[in-house]
Amino acid sequence: MKNIIITGGAGFIGSHVVRLFVNKYPDYHIINVDKLTYAGNLANLKDIEDKPNYTFVKADICDFETIMGIFKKYNVDGVIHLAAESHVDRSIKDPFTFAQTNVMGTLSMLQAAKLTWENLPEKWEGKRFYHISTDEVYGALEMTNPEGIKPPFTTKASSGKHHLAYGSKFFTEDLKYMPHSPYSASKASSDHFVRAFHDTYGMPTIVTNCSNNYGPYQFPEKLIPLFINNIRHRKPLPVYGKGENVRDWLYVEDHARAIDLIFHKGTIAETYNIGGFNEWKNIDIIKVVINTVDRLLGRKEGEDMNLITYVTDRAGHDMRYAIDSSKLQRELGWEPSLQFEEGIEKTVKWYLENQAWMDNITSGEYEKYYESMYANR
Ligand code: NAD
Ligand code: DAU
Repeated sequence: MKNIIITGGAGFIGSHVVRLFVNKYPDYHIINVDKLTYAGNLANLKDIEDKPNYTFVKADICDFETIMGIFKKYNVDGVIHLAAESHVDRSIKDPFTFAQTNVMGTLSMLQAAKLTWENLPEKWEGKRFYHISTDEVYGALEMTNPEGIKPPFTTKASSGKHHLAYGSKFFTEDLKYMPHSPYSASKASSDHFVRAFHDTYGMPTIVTNCSNNYGPYQFPEKLIPLFINNIRHRKPLPVYGKGENVRDWLYVEDHARAIDLIFHKGTIAETYNIGGFNEWKNIDIIKVVINTVDRLLGRKEGEDMNLITYVTDRAGHDMRYAIDSSKLQRELGWEPSLQFEEGIEKTVKWYLENQAWMDNITSGEYEKYYESMYANR
């Protein structure tokens, strides 16, 4: 029996990772440690909550004594650390909370793991601290235009595969960190602490940096679920700036599969970038989402295009993210399983079939937050 803490397991990506591990590894004991902030939702885990190999512990990762207690009680072998404040717009309004949770919370998890594991007779043997981070730590890429070709153009990844791209540079694992938002600065700092615990104490750590995820159970402050819900209610779709920014989208279950693979087969002290070579301009993805929602709701495809509303840009808005995941593909054989068109269809369907899940979130407190967020735009 392996005892594994997954932090942030009640959030978007965390809930997919918990579900995968609980179902795939009946002989592991999965301990989901989550504070249940506005983003944490136990309804994301309804289908597995009664499984015998699953335990939920409501706790704040910043509360070091409590985290130490959890390590002692459950004889923890491994940590998959996802708990974080994750929304860039919130970090612009309230950077302190991001430093607290993402930096101090990660440090508290690392220190608890260190104090527990270094005193065992076997020390670090069989132990693993896996930190989930973001591609945003690398900053923003330019929309360069080699040989005057209008982007997106076809290019070849170092894995040898061809894909569409909006620039000729990509986020590789050896790139210098250049975070721009308080969110990415806090994640960059937490990544440094994780590596410092390996280099200083010998803790077996791994860091991965992933691109934008989409799929079921994402909190509807993020672009895709927010827009699906607004289209359903025929509310305006606030497009930041000109909608020209580029993001690299990955279906959340493919991220969860990568986490499983890397947790078990990844090399200690390594970093792996995770992404699907799937760059999209925001405005183009928004049009795909509008067409898909319209069609699935039995409306005329594209009739809700008039909901697109250009608003003041996000402060410090990173222009382009694009992950080069060749290392992960080459060394561990991971590949995204879904084409984007398939993934977005599945995602829109899920939100439309699970309107009660969405309505529970968007009524009450969240509604007030949403109104205040957009009131001054
Ligand atoms: P999320 O906001 O949906 O979920 C975060 C979870 O962490 C919630 O369940 C919340 O309750 C919990 N949490 C927050 N503060 C906590 C605290 N102090 N103690 C315990 N639990 C706490 O986030 P997400 O989108 O699922 O992202 C998960 C992780 O993956 C984050 O570390 C994020 O930086 C990283 N990441 C996200 C994406 C993405 O596209 N969403 C991409 C790359 C990396
Ligand atoms: O790249 C990985 C990151 O992706 C993760 O680390 C973050 O946790 C996650 O939130 C996500 O960050 P983004 O800022 O890219 O995601 P978001 O969904 O907030 O925005 C996607 C793009 O859409 C971005 O360019 C901003 C734009 N946008 C977003 C919202 C919410 C809009 O134009 N309008 C909106 O209302």
